[in-house]
Amino acid sequence: MIADIIVDLQYGDCGKGKVTHHLLKSGEYTHCIRYNGGCNAGHTIYHNGEKFISHHLPAGAFFGIKSIIGPGCVVNIDQFFKEIREFNEKGINTEGIVFIAENTHIITNNHKKEDKKDTTIGTTKSGNGPAYRDKYDRKGVRAKDIPELRPYLIDIYEELHNNPREPVILFEGAQGFGLDVDWGDYPYVTSSNCISPAALMNGVPPQAVRNIWGVAKAYETYVGAKKFQGDDPIFKRIQEVGQEYGATTGRMRQVNWLSIDLLRRAAKINGVTHLVVNKMDILDKVKEWSLYDYSDGFGGESKVSFLDNSGFETHIENVLSDTCVNNIYFSESPHRI
Ligand code: IMP
Ligand code: MG
Repeated sequence: MIADIIVDLQYGDCGKGKVTHHLLKSGEYTHCIRYNGGCNAGHTIYHNGEKFISHHLPAGAFFGIKSIIGPGCVVNIDQFFKEIREFNEKGINTEGIVFIAENTHIITNNHKKEDKKDTTIGTTKSGNGPAYRDKYDRKGVRAKDIPELRPYLIDIYEELHNNPREPVILFEGAQGFGLDVDWGDYPYVTSSNCISPAALMNGVPPQAVRNIWGVAKAYETYVGAKKFQGDDPIFKRIQEVGQEYGATTGRMRQVNWLSIDLLRRAAKINGVTHLVVNKMDILDKVKEWSLYDYSDGFGGESKVSFLDNSGFETHIENVLSDTCVNNIYFSESPHRI
């Protein structure tokens, strides 16, 4: 068994969908598995020139690759069927392609109602937190308890470990390192682990892992209740030029410079081997290339600026030289790496 993992290194919305779509095109993968999160996630994917926003369905569906919502996720049934219909209407076949692990937990209407009352975290109000809470409190409802999901259920153990064809799996992450329940800025986090090891909780042994694709942006964005955006008017420009609005809630994403400290930590903790830094074109459009570097040893943040993309890129390469990142791709287009 071989597994590659895609993981977001900041606060979500770094362009994982694009990387997933790019990797799936290789034709190498037999399975695509979502490993954490629920319909709080919004993955924007361009397929054959059409824009799709998927909250639940793994991107493998676009390529007819068996696509599984793993037991590390939580699922809203209405949203799941809505996406199945949307994909079908746009000519994407999901029958015999899209599955939900039978031990995956369900986001109920009550979870959603409860989450709607949140005022402190700035959640996506999709019921994600209450669903995970009930799972760990052993009061949850699982996919196998829902009759209408029966045609979509799959036993992950049988599928991956008793399969005559050796599985080559692409794991699709949701949210990001800065939102991880243990490693993010608690309590301004989501209710699941978003780091690469979370993929392994979906029935795959650690020995199977090959490449870890970390995805970041050339600047940071965050959606939620805490103040995140810097005061410099440049951040408003980046928001506009970079079209930084949430795919799930339409909320404005707060913008700040990339923190090299967060990126380095995320690269190390996730074991990133391949790094994609998206939206380099946006810095090019606003003509400012800055980041926060904490490596002066005094613990304070200091803004470092460069004259162009190449100075910015070289700095990132240097800082990450003691991590397991072997390949860095600086991307200037929403359509390719
Ligand atoms: P929840 O996951 O809906 O409970 O929201 C918790 C925090 O994570 C909030 O700040 C959300 O805005 C953020 N969040 C959750 N999912 C995503 C995502 O897919 N992209 C970006 N932020 C997210
Ligand atoms: Mg998103």
